[in-house]
Amino acid sequence: MAQKQEPVVAIYPGSFDPITSGHLDVIERGSRLFDRLIVAILGNEAKSPLFSLAERMEMLSEAVAPFPNVQVDCFEGLLADYALRKGARGILRGIRAISDYEYELQMALMNRRLQPHLETIFLPAGEQYSFVSSRLVKEVARLGGDITGLVPPPVERRLRARWAPHGDQAKKDNQKK
Ligand code: PNS
Repeated sequence: MAQKQEPVVAIYPGSFDPITSGHLDVIERGSRLFDRLIVAILGNEAKSPLFSLAERMEMLSEAVAPFPNVQVDCFEGLLADYALRKGARGILRGIRAISDYEYELQMALMNRRLQPHLETIFLPAGEQYSFVSSRLVKEVARLGGDITGLVPPPVERRLRARWAPHGDQAKKDNQKK
């Protein structure tokens, strides 16, 4: 009788401040590779994010709704420890350019040193998104540029609201002046 295989769980970690169309492309392709994919937002970042953890969880949950084997979670501390707690065998990361690779390789090797059974799987970014980063999208949105298609539509609406003349962030910025 054939042995029942354990479901393969992978983690897709990141700051997701906010999720971009490039992230979503990696999620969609990753959802076809693993039985379960957990998109895990790092919660205790030193850098102050534009969107709160709750907002990022909400945007991600909305974006991954079409993929039944993808769930959204958040974590603090070491990714390798979190992966162990979740029973994950893989960490999924997208690579946009060779410049990403150096840092990603260091992280992959460190994570494997911390948890020897934890493998990192790199997916090349979709070529149409190879220039897209959360940082650049935020900058372009803040300066009034067109970000259509670079982020999922609900994220685009939130970014526009954030930087609209009467948006929350714009109000804060004006108060500082
Ligand atoms: O989207 P990002 O900012 O490139 O994601 C980086 C992230 C969250 C994957 C990385 O900073 C991380 O794993 N942080 C958790 C702390 C940790 O485990 N550090 C050692 C990594 S080798």
